[in-house]
Amino acid sequence: MKKFPEHFLWGAATSAPQSEGHGSLNGKSPSTWDKWYEINPEKFQKNQGPEHTSNMYENYIEDAKRMNDIHMNSFRTSIAWTRLLPDGKTINPEAVTFYRNYFHELHSNGVKPIINLFHFDMPWWLMEKGGWESRESVDAFAFYAETCFELFGDLVEYWTTFNEPMVHVECGYLYGYHYPAIHDLKKAVQVAFHTIMAHTMAVKAFKAGKYSGKIGIILNVSPCYPKSHSTEDLRAAELADLLNTKSFLDPAVLGIFPQKLIECLADNQLLPKVEVQDLHLIQMNPVDFIGMNYYQPRRVQAPATVNHPAVSPADFYEHYDWPDKKINPYRGWEIYPEALYDVAMMIKDQYNNIPWFVSENGMGVADEERFMDQTGMIQDDYRIEFMIEHLQQLHKGIEAGSNCFGYHTWTFVDCWSWLNGYNNRYGFYRLDLENDQRTLKKSGIWFKELIDRNGLL
Ligand code: BG6
Repeated sequence: MKKFPEHFLWGAATSAPQSEGHGSLNGKSPSTWDKWYEINPEKFQKNQGPEHTSNMYENYIEDAKRMNDIHMNSFRTSIAWTRLLPDGKTINPEAVTFYRNYFHELHSNGVKPIINLFHFDMPWWLMEKGGWESRESVDAFAFYAETCFELFGDLVEYWTTFNEPMVHVECGYLYGYHYPAIHDLKKAVQVAFHTIMAHTMAVKAFKAGKYSGKIGIILNVSPCYPKSHSTEDLRAAELADLLNTKSFLDPAVLGIFPQKLIECLADNQLLPKVEVQDLHLIQMNPVDFIGMNYYQPRRVQAPATVNHPAVSPADFYEHYDWPDKKINPYRGWEIYPEALYDVAMMIKDQYNNIPWFVSENGMGVADEERFMDQTGMIQDDYRIEFMIEHLQQLHKGIEAGSNCFGYHTWTFVDCWSWLNGYNNRYGFYRLDLENDQRTLKKSGIWFKELIDRNGLL
């Protein structure tokens, strides 16, 4: 049997905006998602907006029991900034009661809450002042973070500042998938820098406050594999890695930006506006741990034509289709578990072997009811196979010395996903959209047995 380390965290992740519901109730103010849906509902899959969640706001007590039923010992969700501080300054007492009860309930069921502060849900009041383009967002986020540490610090051991910060940068400012849906590389770099500063100021507040527990960040990591070993393709892979992964990973863990990234931005007149103390603050506030969300790798090649200065990421690298790739036929993403071993080794060798965990990994499946048996259970053997293959690679990395302390899947109960609605189901529990009912899938039973053994057969 392939055993995992003692006290390994086994669990699943979601976020407040994707699971809570009650978007305009109980004192919550709108986020960009609530507003965007109001303005452009047709952009959302089947017109399903952020109110179409599993309603954990009302179901958290039963859901915490369900986590216990499958022996999960940890669970990640986020706090909704707009629920806790509807105008950015005033604490909403209903939110405090809700989150305290929610986190208590998790503890009572043997489930450690891992609490994230920002999962793509920018408050609308702050968006109207420029959102992450504005330096004001840095102080606003630091105030929100400190408020969370003060109010919930006694209930939370693992805090994370951001989930996949690169995603709100690229989806909002390069590719048009998230509000404000603009295409502007220069702005994207500034937004990324403000996000790093917001993260840094939150870490600084956490350390200054001497809260118990640890603070980290969750990054999406897609190891970059070049099409060939030509100098051009290798350079494209290096740039893709610098821009997408190391841009956040290096400042968060090592306290500095990679020199090659700085040179690349300078060469393309893309350097962001930086205040005097910023780089020193980044250097002084490294994280205690990191979370890595891994779904699929990035296959890249040198771009055919290049603008200089660059106007989009396509001027640095292009995607290519690896002919040998194995595909998840129900979501279209590549399945390449070996990359998880590469991630484990990268953290060990390049990031001081900092403690880390797999904070998301999972298999999205469209029209999953086609796999429902006569008893109503989804027979998701494909998902079990997916997780086994990834855990084998993770185990290999741990055996080789990588300091991994947990594995979280995306997700616990099927959840609403931004513009994709319920197109891709990921949960251990199937969600019936008609009545919020949850039904355990076969993978949930498998996960429980895995946790009981703390090992892979
Ligand atoms: C992760 C995000 O990257 O992917 C989640 O943190 C998201 O918020 C998940 O829901 C799955 O994405 P999708 O598009 O398949 O639903």
